[in-house]
Amino acid sequence: MAIQRTFSIIKPDATKRSLTGAINAKLEAAGLRIIAQKRIHLTKAQAGVFYEVHKERPFYDELCEFMASGPIVVQVLEGEDAIAKNREVMGATNPEEAAEGTIRKEFALSIGENSVHGSDGEDTAKVEIAYFFSGLELVG
Ligand code: PPS
Repeated sequence: MAIQRTFSIIKPDATKRSLTGAINAKLEAAGLRIIAQKRIHLTKAQAGVFYEVHKERPFYDELCEFMASGPIVVQVLEGEDAIAKNREVMGATNPEEAAEGTIRKEFALSIGENSVHGSDGEDTAKVEIAYFFSGLELVG
């Protein structure tokens, strides 16, 4: 498998509980290199654009509200098979279904407040990285 890049977010429930370091340790232990990272606070409108693909889903408003409720850490991760590897380390969307040792099993509070986001494919990763980072900010 080739070296890939993926986009990751440490969500407000996790930044609020000072879990950035603990989550980064799990990402790095899985072989994912953090090649860009910044802490930002989205407006609800900015979160709405990012999650536009979910705009017809019943939880869209709640999701956007939550993502704008506090600081987030946006990241670009690089490594072999990075997209699938990151989703494996994250665990299932619903923490009750997440495997032992995953970020969501250990830290997530609920299906909404689930601590991390990760791109679900190569095309999505490209779009998501470009929404938050310029090429100059990616230091591989
Ligand atoms: S996934 O990973 O895209 O297949 O997950 P999915 O179930 O489609 O959920 C997409 C994102 O919506 C969030 N979500 C919710 N937020 C609030 N309330 C409820 N009930 C809810 N269900 C799902 C979920 O955390 C996913 O966020 P991201 O940031 O994409 O992981």
